[in-house]
Amino acid sequence: MMYDVMPDVAKSVFTAKLQKPNGLSDDWLELKQRKYSQEEHGIWDRLYKRQMDILPGLACDQFFKGLKLLNFDKGGVPNFDDINKILKPLTGWTVVPVPMLIPDHVFFYHLANKRFPAGNFIRTNNQFDYIEEPDVFHDAFGHVPLLTDPDFAKYMQAYGKAGWKALQYNHLKSLSALYWYTVEFGLMNTDEGMRIYGAGILSSPEESPYSLKAKSPNRLHLNVDRVMRTDYKIDDLQASYFVINHFEELFNLTEARPFDDIYQNIGPSFQYAPAALLDTDHVYQRGTQEYCLRGGHASGATPV
Ligand code: PHE
Ligand code: CO
Repeated sequence: MMYDVMPDVAKSVFTAKLQKPNGLSDDWLELKQRKYSQEEHGIWDRLYKRQMDILPGLACDQFFKGLKLLNFDKGGVPNFDDINKILKPLTGWTVVPVPMLIPDHVFFYHLANKRFPAGNFIRTNNQFDYIEEPDVFHDAFGHVPLLTDPDFAKYMQAYGKAGWKALQYNHLKSLSALYWYTVEFGLMNTDEGMRIYGAGILSSPEESPYSLKAKSPNRLHLNVDRVMRTDYKIDDLQASYFVINHFEELFNLTEARPFDDIYQNIGPSFQYAPAALLDTDHVYQRGTQEYCLRGGHASGATPV
C-alpha cells in the first residue's frame, strides 16, 4: 500500500497528456457536483472514520476547527454548495468540482481565484487503500478544512498566482516541490508538539503516524530556497518532511523570496535528493532513512 492518493501536484507529471473531456469549458469545471450513491456515501463514511480514529493528537488544530466549521461530521460525501455557503464568507474560497486531473495552468488559475478544484468522483471499494488520482475524499477531507484558515488561504491564493512565473521560466518542478512539501506533506510546530497540516498526509492512514513518529524520515525546518531545489517521491512515503511554526510564517517566508531569483539561479545546484541533508538545514530529526534504504514499499518494508 502506498499513500492513499496521488496528491494534486503529481498531476504535473501527467497533465501534458491530458485531453479535455467533451462538453467542458476551458476552466475544466463541471457544472454540478455528482449525485453519489448510497454505496459511495458509505465509502466516504468508512474513509472518514478511519482517519478520524487516527488523527487526534496528530493533525493540527486548524484542521479540526475547519472540519467542525464546515460540518464534515454530517456523514456522506459533503455537498459543495453547503460547504461554500460557510467557506466563502470566511475566507472567500469555494470548492468546485472537476472530473479528473486538470492541466497545471488551469489549476493555478483556479487557486489564484480562490477556487479549490476537487475531484467529482470517489474511489471504489477495490481502491480503498490506494488510488492514483486525487478523489473527493483526498480533496475535500484533506484540503478544504484548512481553507477556513485566513493565513493558509492567503498562502494558497499566492501560490496559484505564482504559477504563471514558474511556467514562463520552465521551472514548474521547482514550484511543485514547494506545494508538495507544504500543502501536501507539511508539518507544523505547536505547543503540544509537531502536528500535520499537509493534505497528502491527512488523508493517508499509513503516512499520518509515519510522518510524525517514524525514525526513518528527516524532519527539517522549512527553507523555501532549499525546498524548491528538492526532488520528491510521488508514490511512496516521504524521505523528508519540512516543518513550519505557523501559517503566517509559511506565507511570510514564501512572500519574502522573489521566485524570479530562485528560477534564475537554480543552476547546477538543482536538485537535492528527497533524503538529502545539508549543512545549512535546521534539523529536528536526522532520519535513519532505513525505510528507503530497504527499498520502500517496493520491498514490502514496514515503515519505521
Ligand atoms: N514570492 C513569490 C514570488 O516571488 C510569490 C508568493 C508569495 C508565493 C507568497 C507564495 C506565497 O513569485
Ligand atoms: Co492534494
